[in-house]
Amino acid sequence: MSVHTQPADQSGSVKRKMSVLDFQKYKDEGRKFAYVTAYDYTTASIVDQSDVEVILVGDSLAMIMLGYDSTTPVTMDDMIHHIRPVVKGAPHTFVAGDMPFGSYNESCEQAVRNATRMIKETGCDCVKLEGGANMADKIAAIVNAGIPVMAHIGMTPQTATSFGGFKVQGGTPQTARKIIDDARAVEAAGAFSVVVECVPNCVTSQMKREITIPILGIGAGPDADCQVLVTQDLLDMYSNFKPKFVKHFAHVRAAMVEGLNQFHAETLSGEFPTSEYCFNKQVEIPPAADK
Ligand code: KIV
Repeated sequence: MSVHTQPADQSGSVKRKMSVLDFQKYKDEGRKFAYVTAYDYTTASIVDQSDVEVILVGDSLAMIMLGYDSTTPVTMDDMIHHIRPVVKGAPHTFVAGDMPFGSYNESCEQAVRNATRMIKETGCDCVKLEGGANMADKIAAIVNAGIPVMAHIGMTPQTATSFGGFKVQGGTPQTARKIIDDARAVEAAGAFSVVVECVPNCVTSQMKREITIPILGIGAGPDADCQVLVTQDLLDMYSNFKPKFVKHFAHVRAAMVEGLNQFHAETLSGEFPTSEYCFNKQVEIPPAADK
């Protein structure tokens, strides 16, 4: 584990930014990597200082940042507004930009136009979009336009209502086969990697035998080539909902509430601010002109 400073700390530790080609290289070398969300400059800069290799500016910001109860309301403008500061804050980390619902579903032309806009206006490294075989033509069109595409299959939050909400997918032989066929379709369409969300481990294991691109798993078991989590979930900051696959690696919400309460208590007691936190210079202040 290292704490990276830019460009190099005293131990010489420099974080090298992954490229699109590195995704396949890591997989081929059996080297796992980690992937988290960020939606703002400060969080991005914290991730950049960590060992985590990949950031997603996910449309989950609808729920985590904006308080909606699903991901569907966010727009291209919302996504661009959040991706820009993340790219700025994480120069040593690969940044994926999530295409919001309705920005690519209509036609290949719409998909290419909005993917191009996302790359041009934010400087992110690839776009991510939800869908399998049904989105293969959109993926191929974006890839043909020269933009790397990360696909997202299994539980796809933008269309979750059509399969009964946020639930594990691929629990029957037919649905498991469909998800694996979706993985094959997005690979054939040119996606360089695929997020697989909320499926039984055996689906991921079989998928791994049938595709060669990296599987980025979120609730997809240990066989995925990379593990993905929402930062606010893994740090125990978001309290509305905890999926089964989320492990809390720290308790940042509790630490923040404790810090805020300490500030409140010291404000009321007068303990804060001591002279350490004050501008102590004595200034000879003349009387007011009208006195
Ligand atoms: O928007 C998001 O955060 C995602 C992850 C759950 C993969 O798509």
